[in-house]
Order: sequence, then C-alpha cells, then structure tokens
Amino acid sequence: MEVVIRRTPEEVAATAAGIVADYVRSGPSVLGLATGSTPLATYADLIRRHRDEDLSFAQAVSFNLDEYVGLPAAHPESYRSVIRREFTSHVDLPDADVHGPDGNAEDVFAEAKRYEAAIDAAGGVDVQLLGIGTDGHIGFNEPGSSLASLTRIKTLTEQTREDNARFFESIDEVPIHVLTQGLGTISRARHLLLLATGAGKAEAVQAAVEGPVTAFCPASVLQLHPHVTVVVDDAAAGRLRLADYYRYVLANKPTGQGF
Ligand code: GLP
Repeated sequence: MEVVIRRTPEEVAATAAGIVADYVRSGPSVLGLATGSTPLATYADLIRRHRDEDLSFAQAVSFNLDEYVGLPAAHPESYRSVIRREFTSHVDLPDADVHGPDGNAEDVFAEAKRYEAAIDAAGGVDVQLLGIGTDGHIGFNEPGSSLASLTRIKTLTEQTREDNARFFESIDEVPIHVLTQGLGTISRARHLLLLATGAGKAEAVQAAVEGPVTAFCPASVLQLHPHVTVVVDDAAAGRLRLADYYRYVLANKPTGQGF
C-alpha cells in the first residue's frame, strides 16, 4: 500500500486523475467509478484532460460501485444519474459502456448476481476509485460486511443515511437499502485508488490504513490487496501515525516507479 499525502483536495484530484488517465491512455481499460463528493474533483480533472489534452475514453468501459434500491434511475441522486452528470456525459464514454447495478430490478438478488458476472465478463476492473465513509465503509459495505462479500443488497447505517441526507431534501428520502459491490468484488480490481479529503475522514483513514484488518472497518480490507494507492490531503492524513514516513517514501520514490 502506498500512501500519498498531498497538501490540498485539488492536488489529490490531480494525482488521482493522472493515475486514471494513465490507464485510459494505455489501451482498453475497465474503470471502477465511485460516487460521493470526494471523487468529483477527480472527474472534473479528467473532463479537463479530455477537453484540453485529447484524453479519449473511447476504449474504456466503466462500472459503478453501488446504487440505491428503489430510487428511480432518473432521480438526480441515483448513482447512475450522478456518474452521468458529473463525469461520463462530458467525455466520450457512451452510456452503453457505463454500467451500474439496477436498484429498480424486480429481483434485486438476481440483479446482484448479474452485475457481479458482468464485471467478470468485462475482464475485471483495472483501476477502482474509492471514497471512504466516516464509518470506514467503501462502496456501501457497512461495518460488519464480510471481507469476501460479493455484490449484494445491504442496509445502510443511520450514520450513512445522515451523511448522505445532504444530497436529498430530508433524511426520510434517503433509501434504506442499496446494491453494492462487495469487499471481495472490490478486492478483485487490479489497482485500488482510495481518495479522502478533509479532517472528517482522518479517523476512518487511520483505521483503514494503520488499524487492524477487520470487518468493523471495511476499508481495512485494502491492506490485503497487492496494489493500493491511498491519496489523501493533509487534513485527512491528520491522524496517520506514520505520516512522516509516507512523505519520506514519496520524496524518495525510486526513479521510474509509477503509482
Ligand atoms: C457514499 C458512497 C461511497 C462514498 C461515501 C463517502 O456512501 N456510497 O462510495 O465513499 O459516500 O462520500 P463522500 O466522498 O461524499 O464523503
């Protein structure tokens, strides 16, 4: 695991966008996309690279991490809508190549299996963007999620519903159930890229990176993965015990070693 500490959220976004852009430029690529507010600046940076630097997504396909159950697909806060509005509609990634679990499927259990199989059929995810919830969740894998879990229906904690209520008129509108890639699904992506900004994430980042591997902090599963880049700003790094070492490692990165 490499921990990259940047000074500002803008620098976090530039680093993350650079990593994703390298995959996109390297040829056909499968991108794992996350919602929440943290990756938005990264998407904006990728859109800018598409516009100003000829970064083409024509050979890419994408898979969303998760989706609310029961929220109409056209609802502005459905994750399908958010990814489209904030990212894919601004680049040459056609809707048909932008995948997400269908939270309105008649049989959500079958839909979870279908989605898992669709990711496999695409060859698996090359680079998976991740945010982190204040309780350490990734995707919508709440504390207690099996570290081997696959795509399935989950029940949100009250904390997550409260955290996400800012996107809705009131907390009552935040769905209780979601479909999410599991921790096992996420772990199969070849490169995991976790982003966090702001002091509100400092505790969760510390637990994920330096705490024990435990279902109590779902993001701690990243410690078992061979290729993880955690990109945080100074505020989100505020509680990392080895912050000085991570900075030292970055300052002394071997020439030619990318992320
Ligand atoms: C939601 C998403 C997660 C995201 C989290 C944090 O719960 N399902 O993928 O990481 O929010 O969001 P934010 O980046 O807005 O703090």
